[in-house]
Amino acid sequence: MISIVAISIVLQFCEAELPRYDVYAKETAYGYTGSFTRYIGNGPFPPDPTFFSFDIYCQTKDRIHIRFYDRSKKYMNIPNVLQISEVTKAASQTNYVFEFIDKGGIIIKRKDTGDVIFDTQTLRFDHPLILEKEFISLTTTTGKNSVIYGLGSRRSRYALKHPFNYTIHNQDRGTPPDDQNLYGSHPFHVEVRPNGKAHGIFFCNSAPMQVELQDGWITYRAMAGEMLDFYIFLGPTQKDVIKQYTDVIGKPALVPQWATGFHQCAWGYKSIDDVRNVVENYDKYNLPLDVMWADIDYMDGKKLFTTDPVNYPKAQFARFISDIKEKKRIRYVAIVNPGVKIESGYEPYESLASSGYYLRNRTSQPYIGEVWPGRTIFPDFFSTGGGSWWASRISKFVKELNLDGIWNDMNEISNFCNGECDEDGGKTKYAWTPGELDHHGVQSDAVTAAGPYYLTHSLYAHMENIHTIEGLKAVNSNKRPFVLSRASFAGSGKNNFLWLGENEAKWEDLRDSISGILSSGLFGMPFTGCDVGGFNGDTNAELLTRWTEAAAFLYPFFRNHRSDDSISQEMYAFGEPYTSYNRRFLQERQKIQSYFYTLMHQSHDEGVPIIRSLSMEFPGDSNCLKIDSQAMLGSALLVSPVLEPGAKKATGCYFPRARWYDYWSGAEDKSVEANEEEESSNESNEFRELNGVEVDLPADLNTIPVHIRGGAIFTKQNYVARRLMNMKDAPFTVIAALDYNECAFGYISVDDGESVDENGDCKKSAVRFQVTQRGRGKKGGRLSVSVTEVGYNSMHVLEEIRILGVAEEPSKIHFNDQRASSFEYDREKKILIVRKAYGGDPREWMLLKEFEMLWG
Ligand code: GLC
Repeated sequence: MISIVAISIVLQFCEAELPRYDVYAKETAYGYTGSFTRYIGNGPFPPDPTFFSFDIYCQTKDRIHIRFYDRSKKYMNIPNVLQISEVTKAASQTNYVFEFIDKGGIIIKRKDTGDVIFDTQTLRFDHPLILEKEFISLTTTTGKNSVIYGLGSRRSRYALKHPFNYTIHNQDRGTPPDDQNLYGSHPFHVEVRPNGKAHGIFFCNSAPMQVELQDGWITYRAMAGEMLDFYIFLGPTQKDVIKQYTDVIGKPALVPQWATGFHQCAWGYKSIDDVRNVVENYDKYNLPLDVMWADIDYMDGKKLFTTDPVNYPKAQFARFISDIKEKKRIRYVAIVNPGVKIESGYEPYESLASSGYYLRNRTSQPYIGEVWPGRTIFPDFFSTGGGSWWASRISKFVKELNLDGIWNDMNEISNFCNGECDEDGGKTKYAWTPGELDHHGVQSDAVTAAGPYYLTHSLYAHMENIHTIEGLKAVNSNKRPFVLSRASFAGSGKNNFLWLGENEAKWEDLRDSISGILSSGLFGMPFTGCDVGGFNGDTNAELLTRWTEAAAFLYPFFRNHRSDDSISQEMYAFGEPYTSYNRRFLQERQKIQSYFYTLMHQSHDEGVPIIRSLSMEFPGDSNCLKIDSQAMLGSALLVSPVLEPGAKKATGCYFPRARWYDYWSGAEDKSVEANEEEESSNESNEFRELNGVEVDLPADLNTIPVHIRGGAIFTKQNYVARRLMNMKDAPFTVIAALDYNECAFGYISVDDGESVDENGDCKKSAVRFQVTQRGRGKKGGRLSVSVTEVGYNSMHVLEEIRILGVAEEPSKIHFNDQRASSFEYDREKKILIVRKAYGGDPREWMLLKEFEMLWG
């Protein structure tokens, strides 16, 4: 249906009538300004403007902002998305150049290679630039045989297929067919050209839209605005693109440390006793558990801000939450939905209805939808009053129940009526829509304080999350607010966290979750995950185990959740041996949480994702471009999950050319080592491609292949506890895996785990580890430990240093100038182990103490 809409647009164009423009441009202090004057033709829904302007801001050497608009008009500002202010002065050195073609358009090229990155005239004959009142469109070039990621959110392969029309419009579709628009709107993509260079484009618009991908070109179409706004990021690596994009939309929020642990949820915990039972079972089976979640079961008749008087009486529920928090250090998060039940005497309804801060229908009456409790109205988060109405209720509710976070669900907005519940027969007709707008949603012609609903729909959750945070901060201004949301917009990652919504207890869903997490990372929302075990349908022991082991390494947000009609799937639900298998991976997750946490800090500072595609980490290897069944945790760990039932191995695992070590044993894994001859040249002969190898890796049900990349250093804590927070201060082991040059690099950052300042930052300390060779003719190596940031007074201790891949047994080890009394060397695995217990000055083993260790 979606593609039919697109085709019909193309068909409405008759060549003779297409709009064509005279293009005029002149240089300015900030870049360029100019105009397009139409001398012939019209778009599909005239009248077309005869004249419009453009401005090009050369914001940085790698970032351009380009805007086509009518200077005499006012446009709706997208709230709280852009984190940068406009430049008045162009960057002096740029990695791009412009060409302006009269009767043509604007071309932007990469300066060094001449690659065309943006070209409004490429297809001027059948895809002209259009700025009509109800329809805007722009086509630009993509490279032939490029690989494209992004354009979410949807359930799809990570590398987007084409030709295809990608609709972008927040939507609750349950478990939708692949490639359909889902809960979030992220009109951003990253393109990797065959020469390995990456760039990104952000189409800054909140209207319902469609992005058509073809091999060689891309068309943006949106439902109005009369204005086209783009940000272009030159990369040239994927990491650079994401850093540049998140400079514009905001860096990911800091995660409280407790939230990096394991979470248990279910729709179907019918009473406090049910929840107590689950918590007790987790303890009984010695399974780590950090956070419990309350789904809509706790509510009275599924009404917002209420508790069930029989099964979850408020005072008892609050006591229970406080109890497990104080006695067991378990945190608690509860769900809320934006729909407020229409019921006289129900305070939230009465107060919202009398305030007037609700969504309105096209006749300015309260817009009525239907969600879990029945007929509802919805707060208008775009009105200042609506935002504070919500924030104050969130504060009150959080205080009453002593909650640690809020789960914002159904906030697309989901509405079971598919538009209007009380049919009055009327619906506004639009010139063009990117498919069905109102499916499971609010009718598009409703109205918010910021403008028509259809232009603000995809921003609704974004605003709800901001006001939810306001509410949480009113309770605890210096703690990191934890808000999990289903819906999102570009830039939501600087405020809230995300889960990928409904999935099914199926193997395909486990597989697809990797693409979902990779894409969220591109959208600046790296703290994300899927429902472990699957939400809809019944999971089984094997699937849950495989899911748990993959999630332990690949889900920054690690939560088991199921639907109310699914069987129980807590980590002990299937008995032995599965409980033990699951325990092993929950505990392993705890052991590497310091690495997750360090990556979370890196994301917050730079924007780069926590979970990364192989193509992001190995940009020189085009074999990685489409891999989405394996992924990397940071730069250090390559995770190859088993994604098929009954399998005893992970099949078709790709290993780019590098030195790799088995995570579990620490020994170098020669079976994944590329053989020297496998080298091929890329067609553009700009870079030599170094092929890796594809292998099947043995993996019984109680293991998952994970490899450490030679050249990486990361930290582990070889302790386990039922709560992450009970082992977060445990001593560290530093693991350095030598590359072929016998070098390695990494770092760790630590903080107090939950405080945040008014800018959303925290005080942390960071320690850098670097292994180098000792120098010409000298055997052995040198580990230098330097403190690069001191903001948090960490009392952490180092207890062990493991150097993987040390070819020969050293004869001695020195810490600074002091000789260590002892060390271990595993001849078979070639691992050098030095422990705190072996000496040197024990004070040197504090994490924040700089030292040098030499071996040889
Ligand atoms: C939605 C959410 C799901 C939740 C359910 C009941 O379906 O996606 O996670 O359990 O609502 O609140």
